[in-house]
Amino acid sequence: MCGIVGYNGKELKSKEILIEGLKKLEYRGYDSAGIALKNNNQIIITKEKGLIKNLEKKLDNNTTTLGIGHTRWATHGEPNEINSHPHQVGDITIVHNGIIENYKELKEELIKKGYNFKSQTDTEVACALIDNYYRQEKDIKKALTKFIDKVKGAYALGILVKNDNNLYSIRKDCPLVIGKGKIGNLIASDVLAISNNAEKIYYLEENTIAEITDTKIRIYDKKLEEINPEFKEIPKEEYTTDKCGYEHYMLKEIHEQPKVFKNTTEKYISNNIYSLKKEMPDFKKYNKIHIVACGSAYHTGLVGKNLIEEYANIPVEVEIASEYRYKKNFYDEKTLLIVVSQSGETADTLAALRKAKNDNIDTLAIVNVENSTIARDAKYVLITEAGPEIAVATTKAYSAQVATLGLIALNMGLENNTIKKEELKQILKEIKELPIQIENTINNCNYKEIANSIYERDDIFFIGRGIDYALCMEGSLKLKEISYIHSEAYAAGELKHGTISLVENNTPVIGIVTEQELKEKTISNIEEVKSRGAKTILITNDSNIKNYDYITYLPKVHKILQPLLTVLPLQLISYEVARLRNCDIDKPKNLAKSVTVE
Ligand code: M6R
Repeated sequence: MCGIVGYNGKELKSKEILIEGLKKLEYRGYDSAGIALKNNNQIIITKEKGLIKNLEKKLDNNTTTLGIGHTRWATHGEPNEINSHPHQVGDITIVHNGIIENYKELKEELIKKGYNFKSQTDTEVACALIDNYYRQEKDIKKALTKFIDKVKGAYALGILVKNDNNLYSIRKDCPLVIGKGKIGNLIASDVLAISNNAEKIYYLEENTIAEITDTKIRIYDKKLEEINPEFKEIPKEEYTTDKCGYEHYMLKEIHEQPKVFKNTTEKYISNNIYSLKKEMPDFKKYNKIHIVACGSAYHTGLVGKNLIEEYANIPVEVEIASEYRYKKNFYDEKTLLIVVSQSGETADTLAALRKAKNDNIDTLAIVNVENSTIARDAKYVLITEAGPEIAVATTKAYSAQVATLGLIALNMGLENNTIKKEELKQILKEIKELPIQIENTINNCNYKEIANSIYERDDIFFIGRGIDYALCMEGSLKLKEISYIHSEAYAAGELKHGTISLVENNTPVIGIVTEQELKEKTISNIEEVKSRGAKTILITNDSNIKNYDYITYLPKVHKILQPLLTVLPLQLISYEVARLRNCDIDKPKNLAKSVTVE
């Protein structure tokens, strides 16, 4: 979604630093971009619809030592130059991530005070509100404390003030990181944007104000008393953010899965004695689990449900965060809420977490970004070691989440004595071997011929039972989001209750068959569609299954680990279908990497 970068330093390089940072944020999804460069009391704003390269074409050679930049993913008002950021009202210029919920009533109040608005955005209202308070207080920090009290919603702001050579920042429910580097000080909505120029970073807390000069960073609480920020080294990434020769980030990230699985699981396994991090909750306390997430992360929850119920014998409910946050929830002190999120910033998932926290429910977050809001808000945190995921369609982060949920199932099963020692030994052995199995599955997969046979179709169905149905949902979402082909996932037994009427000659139906106990049932459902003319594509770990149009055979591993292999052909088929259709694979239309608005 939207991205923020800001710079205040000694070097005449703000334009270059802002553009570099914005390019690093491109992967999050955006539809316009802009920068404001400040030189003494002059602020020059340049904005453009579409890609950053369009904005670059509009910029001249001028640069300054202070500036803010933004990539906008439209929420209030269409993507055009007027609605894009930075916005300027009176003495104030801002860039904004998030949504100001009470902007309509604020706008009415401000209009009565004589403010006029050019755009349809909530951001211009926020800008006018700060200007209004600044005029009253003649002090920007006081104005910002009033703003914090008045505004409802989510925001991270980068703020420039006329007659002032500082950069200011505040945030609520949206991340904002401050960086210190040799060339000066920086702000960004994501550390990736400033990692080349910052050496140390600090994640701004809510209800505080950052005042950033070209040499100093001062943080104030709401009483405007200075507090001491603790800056930390930028974590050294094991994963590069280059494409490393791959045509797309998505393909690179699919290939990173052996390493991701190893890094995610090995933290919990020592000397063949299975153990989980000390700060893990005592699972014995819980007799009910809720898993809440959005999109693919929700699908990992469905896999987790299958595994936890089977191996730990604990009932699990999985819910979509945007539903869970507004419904009546049946939980108590023996319920553990697990939220799953790659970004750790998804607005609905965060709201669900906060709702449960307010009701004194224990929360555990499975998150890929260590300092994200969800990671910081949850009682317990398990970090997935997927590294930065740039492609909008998640692949390696999905796998890391599934691996972590598998480890939770295993741990709970051990605590509840529902997993026997012999089985544990076997699983541990297979965990050690899985990276190789993942690599072999990727390398040997016949996804290209499958993709070739389906990429021109309009509708594709995925069917499976049990855990395979959860995988079907992920396969279907992956295909839809990057290839724009309509597809649906069905529990295999459900198809004949209506949807089978859509199956006609050559309709591709992808069947997943890895659940041994359900194998015969799913096979007969696949036969049903085959006899109605469907093009049948099977993904299975059973070498005895034959006679379908296309078959991808997977190595057979323990059920806890099998989804990590099953998902690979699904990712690869989607990737190749999108490639054959010339889609923008890493940045699919209308989608954002991190959905920080409701
Ligand atoms: O950052 P999160 O894991 O919370 O994101 C949740 C979903 O928005 C995300 O999984 C989305 O569905 C992906 N684009 C799927 O590939």
